[in-house]
Amino acid sequence: MTYSELAAAARGQIGPFCKACPTCDGRACAGVMPGPGDKGVGRVARRNWEAWQDVRVSMDTLHESWAADTRTTVLGRELALPVMIGPVGDVQRHYGEKYDTVSYNRRVLEAAAGEGTLAWTGDGLDASIMAEACSLIAELGGAGVPTVKPWDEKTLASKLDQALAAHPAAVAMDIDAAGLPFLRGQEPPAGAKSAAQVAEVAARCHEAGAPFVLKGVMTPAAAERAAAAGVDAIVVSNHGGRVLDGTPATAEVLPSIVAAAGEKVEVLVDGGVRSGLDVFRALALGARACLVCRPFVVAAFGGGADGVRAYLGELRSGLADAMEMCGAATTADITRELIWNA
Ligand SMILES: Cc1cc2nc3c(=O)[nH]c(=O)nc-3n(C[C@H](O)[C@H](O)[C@H](O)COP(=O)(O)O)c2cc1C
Repeated sequence: MTYSELAAAARGQIGPFCKACPTCDGRACAGVMPGPGDKGVGRVARRNWEAWQDVRVSMDTLHESWAADTRTTVLGRELALPVMIGPVGDVQRHYGEKYDTVSYNRRVLEAAAGEGTLAWTGDGLDASIMAEACSLIAELGGAGVPTVKPWDEKTLASKLDQALAAHPAAVAMDIDAAGLPFLRGQEPPAGAKSAAQVAEVAARCHEAGAPFVLKGVMTPAAAERAAAAGVDAIVVSNHGGRVLDGTPATAEVLPSIVAAAGEKVEVLVDGGVRSGLDVFRALALGARACLVCRPFVVAAFGGGADGVRAYLGELRSGLADAMEMCGAATTADITRELIWNA
């Protein structure tokens, strides 16, 4: 099943907010929240997608014939491809009845682990979202990344307990989440966190043996503060436009953030990555791996766990194709030189 076939199969089973478009480019759902869209006038999700399309790659097939090796290492763990499934916090609310967050998480966690990568799980006001995600990750021997919201101190401490008890591949925090329209002014409260608070969370994870990832970094200055706070990785992410209107695309800010993050911090990126070629573009601009989020919901609604596996396969073969066409035998060979006019 191709992604566009999965999207066609999802239509009628998903919604009413998501249109399960053949390309998930943020146009049909612009500004639709609740739903899979983005905040305000709703241009940021689309901007994310368009920015990858503007990155032109240098074709060079004057090389030995080989099969591209798409493996990479993220936070000390080998992945079969530099793509992980991004977190979705409240599936039913934004995508309809067919899957609740637990049944969605089960499908993506199992499919990702089976294909040699990881799914991340989300968090929400409903405490069961995080609790159930963590028990699924524990069942899978830790193959997953629970993503905690930047709650007040007490709530954050208990959510970290839950997350760390699952012995996950890593723990993440989407530090930008307070901008979500449905999180403002709610209980428990969520908000910005200082570098000192982030350092405490990172230390807590390290004591328990888990790497810590900060998701939602959009400036070189924030990347420097995150690095100084001891985070192991950052995700260059604007939350798909859901937390603040008017931000640049992630592809636009990625190179300067990679330069600022330094050698010790791994840089991941999300937002509008839809094809293996987009993954290639992200790696060429300096990311170690990508998160892909919304299309996996569509793939699951269209084809269940098989749909998730099929889309992962499509991303992997599209990446291998781009690597072979541009002369990159391994993911380490995907460098800035493979971007035309960089
Ligand atoms: C309905 C929905 C729910 C989301 N829930 C979470 C969440 O709980 N935690 C989180 O870190 N990101 C969450 N995100 C953001 C995504 O993980 C991702 O950063 C964003 O959608 C951009 O990637 P994409 O363009 O591939 O979808 C959510 C996104 C959507 C559309």
